[in-house]
Amino acid sequence: MALTFWEEAYRIGIDELDNEHMELGALMARFQQALDDHEDKAVIGSIFRNLRGKLVSHFNHEEQILRRIDYPEEDVKAHVDGHLDVLYTFDHEFSKWEKAPGDAPIPGELSHLCVWAITELLTADMRVKDHLSRSRPAKASGE
Ligand SMILES: [Fe+2]
Ligand SMILES: [Fe+2]
Repeated sequence: MALTFWEEAYRIGIDELDNEHMELGALMARFQQALDDHEDKAVIGSIFRNLRGKLVSHFNHEEQILRRIDYPEEDVKAHVDGHLDVLYTFDHEFSKWEKAPGDAPIPGELSHLCVWAITELLTADMRVKDHLSRSRPAKASGE
């Protein structure tokens, strides 16, 4: 069964970010499927570059929003570091395989990349959700 990278439980409550998360989840699933199916390197490469581009724009957008919702500066820094770590790891694992001979098998690090990334990203984004629920208690209780 295909892995899914989006669930309703992942909503943080900011529609524009949730929509991007949904789109990223779909792209990760597509990338994962292409790896699992051993599609052509060129095909996998183009899916990877598309996913990476969308990750970069999402991270930039999300970092702007973190500052707008008064997310503590220390936490913003840690969150940005997490985004950078994911991008670094994506580039590192992908380019290692891309540079290998055409028939090189897909290494475990690459086939587990999206599962690792979604766990890292989700853990950090759930902290943002907690921050929002703490900073908007009046709204939740209808006051
Ligand atoms: Fe994030
Ligand atoms: Fe995010």
